[in-house]
Order: sequence, then C-alpha cells, then structure tokens
Amino acid sequence: MEVGRMFFWLLILVLFCSTSHVSATGISDELEDGSIDNEILAVMWLQELNTKLIDKNYELAVANWNYETNMTDHNSVVMNNISLELHDWDTEVKKKARKFNTENFSYEIKRMFKLLLQGGELRNDEQVRRYNTITTEMLSIYAHAKVCRDPPSTECLPLEPGLESIMSDSRDYDELLWAWKGWRDAVGPPIGKLYPEYVKFRNIAARNTGYNDESDVWLENYEEDDFETVLDELFQEIKPLYMHLHAYVRRKLRDRYGDRVSTDGPIPAHLLGNMWAQQWDNIYDIVRPFPDLESVDITPTMREQDYTVLQMFHIANNFFTSIGLTGMPPTFWKKSMFVKPRDRDVVCHGSAHDMQKGNDVRIKMCTQINYNDFYTVHHEMGHCEYYLQYRDQPLVFRAGANHGFHEAVGDTIALSVVTPDYLNKMGLLSVEKFTDRHDIDFLLRQALVKIAFLPFGFMIDKWRWDVFRGITTPEDYNSKWWELRTKYQGIEAPVERSSTDFDPGAKYHIPSGTPYIRYFVSFLIQFQFHESLCKEKNHEGPIHRCNIYQSTAAGDRLGAMLRMGASRPWQDAMQEITGQRKIDTSSIKRYFDPLFTWLQEQNYGKDVGWD
Ligand code: ASP
Ligand code: SER
Ligand code: ZN
Repeated sequence: MEVGRMFFWLLILVLFCSTSHVSATGISDELEDGSIDNEILAVMWLQELNTKLIDKNYELAVANWNYETNMTDHNSVVMNNISLELHDWDTEVKKKARKFNTENFSYEIKRMFKLLLQGGELRNDEQVRRYNTITTEMLSIYAHAKVCRDPPSTECLPLEPGLESIMSDSRDYDELLWAWKGWRDAVGPPIGKLYPEYVKFRNIAARNTGYNDESDVWLENYEEDDFETVLDELFQEIKPLYMHLHAYVRRKLRDRYGDRVSTDGPIPAHLLGNMWAQQWDNIYDIVRPFPDLESVDITPTMREQDYTVLQMFHIANNFFTSIGLTGMPPTFWKKSMFVKPRDRDVVCHGSAHDMQKGNDVRIKMCTQINYNDFYTVHHEMGHCEYYLQYRDQPLVFRAGANHGFHEAVGDTIALSVVTPDYLNKMGLLSVEKFTDRHDIDFLLRQALVKIAFLPFGFMIDKWRWDVFRGITTPEDYNSKWWELRTKYQGIEAPVERSSTDFDPGAKYHIPSGTPYIRYFVSFLIQFQFHESLCKEKNHEGPIHRCNIYQSTAAGDRLGAMLRMGASRPWQDAMQEITGQRKIDTSSIKRYFDPLFTWLQEQNYGKDVGWD
C-alpha cells in the first residue's frame, strides 16, 4: 500500500479511537521494553509523533540555517539551546519507541521503528552541551580561518573566495605551496585539539545504544552486511583506470614543474588544482591532450556572456522541470542564500537544507561564476528535488534510499548538463562537429572530476572508521592520514608533516562531522542512474554523449525512485531506477572506456603507479 494513503485511513482510525480511551501518549515509563505489541496503538503513536516531530525539527532547521548564514554568538546560542531541548525530547521518544514489540507489525511500521531507533544517543545533558560546544567551535574555526600574506602586504585570505582560487588558478609552485600549507597551519592544529574529544562523544553515544562504536552507526545507513568488503572490491575494479589517469597527469605535471615531480613516485599534493587534490579539473589546461581543439571549459564563455548567479540557478531549475520533475517553489527563491554576503560571516561550503515543513527547501552557497559552481548548483538542487519528491512520506522516511543516493541526484542530472550537446543548446559551447578527439578531450576532463575523486572519496572514511574504532590513536591521526593519501591517491605532502599537524581538519567534512563514503558511492551509482535514464530516453550511441534534457520518460523513472525516499532498503530503490540491485562499476567503466584505451596507449612503456 502507498504509505501516504495508509496514513489517511489511519488518521480516520485515530480520530475514531480518540473518542474511546485509547491514547497514544499514554505510554507509561513503567512499561517494560518490547511489551506493547498492539500495532494500532503503534500507528497512532507514530502518527502523533510525526506531527510533533515536524514542528520540532523545523525549529532546529531554522536555527541551524540562521547560524550557518549568519555566524553570530547569539545565533549559535539559540541553535545549541534548541538542539539541547530537542535532544531531551528525542531521548524520551526513543524510550517510548522501545516499549513496542514490532516483530509482528506490517513491513512499513516495522521499518519506521527501525529507522527511528537508529543512531547513537548521549544520555547526559552535560555531555550534550560539551559536544555541541566542540562541534560549533570546529565549524567556526573552519569558517573564520584566514591566511595572511607576508609583510609588507596586509592581505589575509579566507578559503572561499581566496585560497581556493589560488589553488585552482595559480601555476606558481611556491605560491601554491604557500596557500596549501597556510590553510593547514590555520585550521589543522586548533581543530585537531578538539577532535579526540569529538570522537570520544560520538563513541559514547554509539555505545549507549548498543553499537561497538560510531563507525557502526555510519555504516548502518547502507543496510548491507560487510559493506566495507563490497567497497574494497568496487575500488579494486576501478583502480586500473585511476592508475592510468594518475600516470598521465604526473607526466604532464613534470613537463610543467620539472624535477619537483618525480617520474614514478607520488605527486606533490598541491599541484592538482584543488586544496585537497580531490578533483583535478582545474588543471585541465595543463593536461589537455589536444590543445588545438576548442576547450570544453565554459567558464570564459559564462563570463563573456555576463552570466549572473541567479541565472545559473534558473538554468538548473529549468533542467529539472524539462524532464517533468518539480521546479523550486517560491520560498526557495526567496529564502536561499546564493552569494556570499558582505556584511556577515557564513559557512560557505555549499549545502542544501530541508526545513521539513511545507515545501521549504533552501540552498546556501557562495556561488561564483564558473564551471565548477555551475556544476555544484545542479548538485545542490538535486538534494532539494529529492526533498520535494519525498515530502509526502512520513518523516522517518524522508531521507535518501541511502546517503549516496542523495548525493547522486544532482550529479546524475549534471552528467547530462556537461555534455557538449546540452551546452551547445544553451549557447555555452559551439562545437560544430564532434570527432573522436573531442570525445577524448571531453572524457579526460570528466575523468579529472569523476575518476580522480574515487580514491579520495574512498580514503576519508577509511581513516575515520579506524579513528572511531580506536585503531588509529590521536598521536597517529596525521601520519595515518598521509599513509592513506599516498596508498590510495598516490599523492604526498609537499612539506614535512608532524603529529602536531592535523591535515584531516583542513577538509570541511571532518570538522562538520559529515560522513564521506556517500560521495564514493554516489560517484559510482550516478553512472548507473545515468545509463538507465538514457535507456529510458532511447538514447543511441555511447552514454557519455547522452543528455536527458526534456525527456519526461527519464524524469518519470527518476521521480518514481525519488518519491520512495527511505521507505524501502536502497536495493529496492536501485531496482526501481536501474532494474538491478547492486552497486556496479560497469556503467562508469563503459562511460570512460574510450579514454581508458587511449590512456593505456599514452602510458605504454612509461611508469604507472607510485611504489
Ligand atoms: N556540498 C557538496 C559536497 O560537499 C558540494 C560542494 O559544495 O562541494 O558534496
Ligand atoms: N561536495 C563534496 C566535497 O566538496 C564532494 O565533491 O568534498
Ligand atoms: Zn551534496
């Protein structure tokens, strides 16, 4: 049964029952855990909870939004007070939820209880307060940090805009090193001081509810036994492609920077066009295989055509509506933060927010007019589209099928948006005839975004899981980080690091406590999604040339999956959109196949790997 409809009937039932003496709130603390097996009572209780939870969550979501878009002490106090209040309430709710014995309940109701009870729980107000202080402090250090130029200059640069542009645009080895090291010196040690305590609290919370440690909580979202082994296998499957990309890029960097880049070792981490060496598309100009071809970088064209930030959001919105999905509602346009305000401090890292009430969804971004941000706008809007599609679900099901699915929606759309076919249509490119050489050029740029990212997306939580497990202890935080960076990404720190450095802290998702394996998952499944949507559109030819713009057939299929939210395990959602039930690397491999062949030819007889 469709869950929304089921709730309608249950509501009728609740109204009926409330005239008798059955009440959902009357669950006494005295009752033993697992002692209520009456499903009707459970449904009534869930229904009541749903309504209350919407109000409570909204209050916190607004406070959180207010803080992140205006980082004053006052807003932080308000946010943490509400969070504390909600925490107490949440603890009560979970206590009551445990009174139910869900064994013989119907599938949906059982699943609601399961999701409701997931996660850790701090059970002491003092701990919650301290935990909130630490996390707010880490975020604030990251958001406020600046790196100052040497005197006599008095210029001090934040990450966005400033250091990030140096990392992407500068081709001066020493200036890159200055920005790279400066950022790590500014944020690493102060965040590193707080991090062990953060780890301690996450683990206390996890253990309070019966997990071994916080890593189990993070992995639980993927609802698959031995998911880590699955991930290892997936990584092995795409590793050859990464190794060949790495070898090719290393040679091009050596042409540019000389002996400072070795022929057969790891690449210095500051030369790849990105503060974290996570995506390398900003050095596309250095590695372009056919510089005589028209560049597929649309940044200069966007600037020539006087693009505005708002226009970028409207173009993204237009793509979603062109395939029959929902456009962003009026409140989105009114309440979002599209550019960095001049008059206050904000968390610049792009994010999408579901206020969980009505259709109030928002994006906050310090958007700039360039290709990267054009892409990120689609990424963030994908989150909002998911929120809007599943908003008729009960609250506990308003989430991605798994976290990776949420990250993949906008990226799937963007796989169409970056095609020369679409960009031509939008007047951002003018490639008249598309040859094999154009294909390689295009695929190489895509690989700098999508393939270069995979080992990075893979190693971040490998590091964090072992931190939570106590396998990696604070003295080894930084050395272990670099061990993994080298092992998986084949990069190395350009200057010596020590245990007083805390380089993980220089990446947003560490201080903000956002799990990261979701991006690794997303970067694989978005190709599976793209391929099946292209089939739906009856696309002929290679999938890297497919663009689903205006295909309502593709939109219908995507929409059906999005509307499921988390009401079923992700394998069901995967089946809905692709017909298969597994994460599978064959789509991404097919997409990059011509490039892989080409890279192997280029690397023939040359060094590949970094041992
Ligand atoms: N929030 C996104 C990422 O962290 C996009 C970004 O701003 O980089 O997934
Ligand atoms: N948005 C994610 C990040 O910034 C993944 O690309 O790390
Ligand atoms: Zn995202």
